[in-house]
This record gives sequence, C-alpha cells and structure tokens, in this order.
Amino acid sequence: MPADLEPSIAPADCPKATEKAEVKGYFESTGFERWKRIYSDSDEVNNVQRNIRLGHQKTVDEVLHWVEEQGDLAGRSFCDAGCGVGSLAIPLAAMGAGSVEASDLSEAMVSEAERRAREAGIPAERLRFGASDLESLQGRFDTVICLDVFIHYPQPAAEEMVRHLAGLAEHHLIVSFAPYTPLLAILKSIGQLFPGPSRTTRAYTLREEGIVATAASCGFRPVRRSLNQAPFYFSRLIAFERG
Ligand SMILES: C[S@@+](CC[C@H](N)C(=O)[O-])C[C@H]1O[C@@H](n2cnc3c(N)ncnc32)[C@H](O)[C@@H]1O
Repeated sequence: MPADLEPSIAPADCPKATEKAEVKGYFESTGFERWKRIYSDSDEVNNVQRNIRLGHQKTVDEVLHWVEEQGDLAGRSFCDAGCGVGSLAIPLAAMGAGSVEASDLSEAMVSEAERRAREAGIPAERLRFGASDLESLQGRFDTVICLDVFIHYPQPAAEEMVRHLAGLAEHHLIVSFAPYTPLLAILKSIGQLFPGPSRTTRAYTLREEGIVATAASCGFRPVRRSLNQAPFYFSRLIAFERG
C-alpha cells in the first residue's frame, strides 16, 4: 500500500473528477519521482520508502507465484490495470505470459514502465503499454490484475471498479488494497500509519467484505488470499476465479 500518502481534503468537499485529477497530477510529478525510486533498486530512499518497497515486492512475488500455479501462461492474456512503472507487468511478460496489456493514469509512469520493459528486452508485441484510467479500460482478458491502486478509491468507487474489472476478466481477477481494520483506523487517525514529508493525495482503506461481495455479484469467488506487510505497508491480496 502506498503508505506515505495521507488525506489532505475532506471527502465531502472533493468531487470524484477533482480527486482523480489530483492523483494524476501527483503521479506525473512528485509522486512519479518518489514511486519510481521506491519501485527500483535505488539507494535514494528513506526507511519508510524502503519498507514500502519490501512490502510491495512481497505482493508482486505472490501474484507471480499464484499466476504461475494457475498454469498455461503462454496461452493467457493479462491486463495490468494501474501498472505503475511495470513492477508486475515486466516480470509477468518475462515469465512467458501470452500477452500483457499494461496501463496507468500517469503518462510519466507508463513511459518509465515502457523504458524498463525495453531495457529488459521484452518485445513490444508481448507487453503493450497505454496511458488510461481504470474507468476507460476495455477489452476481454483471461486475467485482470490491479495492485495497490484502490488506495485512491473510497469504498463505493472501489466496488464499482471491481465490477468494471470483473467485466473485463474471463477467468481470473486479482486485486490488492489496504484493508480497513479498527487498528489501522486508529493508527491512521493518529498519523502513525501514513507518515512522510509529502502528503499529497488521500489514502483510503477498504472493507474486504464489500470487495468480496461485489466480486461475488459478478460471478467471481475468492480462491486465494494473503496479507502482505512490512512496516508502513499493509496490502490485502485476493485472487478470484469465475464460477
Ligand atoms: C502505488 S502505485 C501501484 C502501481 C502498480 N500497480 C504496482 O503495484 O507496482 C499506484 C498507481 O495507480 C495509478 N492510478 C491511480 N489512480 C488511477 C486510475 N484511476 N486509473 C489508472 N491508474 C491509476 C497511479 O498513477 C500509480 O501509478
């Protein structure tokens, strides 16, 4: 979970479009610089960022492991929704996924992802990138994956997004989000969960039962769950299957 983001505007004052524009602006500028470093081997990170990197890597590794277990990588199409700098899409393509379409709201993140993919020698026809918000995604994929993006979505919007992503997924849907727990709520309210010098966008924790119920209403049942943690990083990961 992007734990160094913290609420800055009261929800009631912040219409959805304005908030998305703020998130986009953040990930095109200071957020891009920060997250590009977090999702890399760079030493130019502080302790909080290093821990977020470790926690996030656990999430990515778990997804790659689950996907590999599901089998037939080469015969499957993947959508990485909100791909950031390609931390998942690039290894997924490198492992032999049939096709990967990766997109992100931030053009800066997408350009960096594309640069990293080419540097890693991944052919463009196997891993395609595009700048797009989740809402505009279209198509049909064997597997749709959305990691650590719902932190920018309040519960109703996150559930709406689960419905949308489920509509794009033939067989598998994998999502991660910062889970709501009473303890995290208390830590958040006293500022211990979201420290950091730059507090630019709002961070939402989500109630897992709402996410699972929404997926169920679209015909998806949870088959794997994990909680990936490091100090300042808490991310619930759930794999759903249709049927
Ligand atoms: C914390 S990063 C996670 C990136 C990537 N999923 C990963 O796990 O490495 C959150 C990403 O979500 C993207 N994002 C936020 N809101 C989005 C939206 N509405 N549509 C698409 N991407 C979005 C941001 O630009 C950012 O790259």
